[in-house]
Amino acid sequence: MTDKHAVADLALFGGRPLFDRPRPIGQLAKPDTERFFSLMKSAFDSRRLSNNGPLVQELEARLADYHAVRHCIAYANAGLALITLIETIADGRKGSVVIPTFTYTGLPHIVRWAGLTPVFCDVAPDTHTLTATSVADALRDDTIMMLGVHQANSPCPIDELSAMCEQFGLPLLFDAVHGLGATFRGKPIGGFGIAEVFSLHATKLLNGFEGGYITTNDDELAALMRRKRNFGYSGESSIDTLGLNGKLNEVHAASALASLDKLPVVISRNHARLDAYQQAFRGIPGISWIPYPGDEATNAEFPLLKLATDWPIPRDALVSILRAEGALARAYYAPALHLQDDSRHRSLPVAEALAQCIVQMPTGEMVNTTDIARLASLVQFVSSNAAAIRAALAAHQDAK
Ligand SMILES: Cc1ncc(COP(=O)(O)O)c(C=O)c1O
Repeated sequence: MTDKHAVADLALFGGRPLFDRPRPIGQLAKPDTERFFSLMKSAFDSRRLSNNGPLVQELEARLADYHAVRHCIAYANAGLALITLIETIADGRKGSVVIPTFTYTGLPHIVRWAGLTPVFCDVAPDTHTLTATSVADALRDDTIMMLGVHQANSPCPIDELSAMCEQFGLPLLFDAVHGLGATFRGKPIGGFGIAEVFSLHATKLLNGFEGGYITTNDDELAALMRRKRNFGYSGESSIDTLGLNGKLNEVHAASALASLDKLPVVISRNHARLDAYQQAFRGIPGISWIPYPGDEATNAEFPLLKLATDWPIPRDALVSILRAEGALARAYYAPALHLQDDSRHRSLPVAEALAQCIVQMPTGEMVNTTDIARLASLVQFVSSNAAAIRAALAAHQDAK
């Protein structure tokens, strides 16, 4: 199936786009809407719409069970949960937080909102996570905690980071937004470090429209995080800690609950899409896929296409070509975060190199295997007509 016959057929150069409706990168999973509406009816009927309502409590219990932890504390989103958790662990101290440089752009903002300073670390070339070696270079006298980020393609090397944190007396927490459904040594992500944080954003695996939650086995921390999300109230009118409005409401809990029923299906469809990508792109020179570990449960959340360094079209140009066609691919975690930060920074070569060669391809419920086959023939066309496309790109640039 070839949709493009000439370079002028590419949408970037005025041709008709491959997709009339955009193919996004987010999960956008649809729960059983009957179940969602019936949960919402119960919320309206009981007039409990927020403030730790029954649906939030049911969601927390089911998620604590899913992650095999003692506590799940729902928040309005993962960002607020992380800010509040980091502020709580810092407990009034000023200093720095070790974070990876190859992750979500918002992470350094989260650290700064918590009143601390991010110190960026390099990542491992295969897993894209912090390692004991990369972290060793970033420890400073004022380091207060380490924030590991599990990647979709791999959890952090939890043993190694835990041992290091123990040696230096540092709390270890995890941003587990992309670790849902994954395991480390057979145990679900969610029960490691002091606490872990997940998102319920519509583009994530578990769709609450918006939302987030903290998992922990620490009873005291759990109780404090509950008070903090409710303005810091410890009783009817007394406030005993710095709080905010971080509550998840019943609409979002209803969507997350209905979505939780479908989570295994969502994950298995992601695997099917990832397999379809690998099959369909087989034979296109210079293309490989970031692997997911075969010996652990994984979520296959992102199909990550890696271009060889000598691929004939620059990565960002390929992304522009795809996007013009309605395939909303993205340059994956580019540029590395330390290069976007105005603080003084060291060179972090692994992340800098990774940030130049990976394309996050469309996936989720809006993408099917026929779309993937069409994307493969498009990329094959780009690869086979690279010289003409480079010339057209140069002319396109000059015309701007
Ligand atoms: C790694 C990571 N951490 C945190 C967040 C923030 O999640 P939320 O949108 O629920 O605040 C995101 C969102 O994309 C993320 O990718």
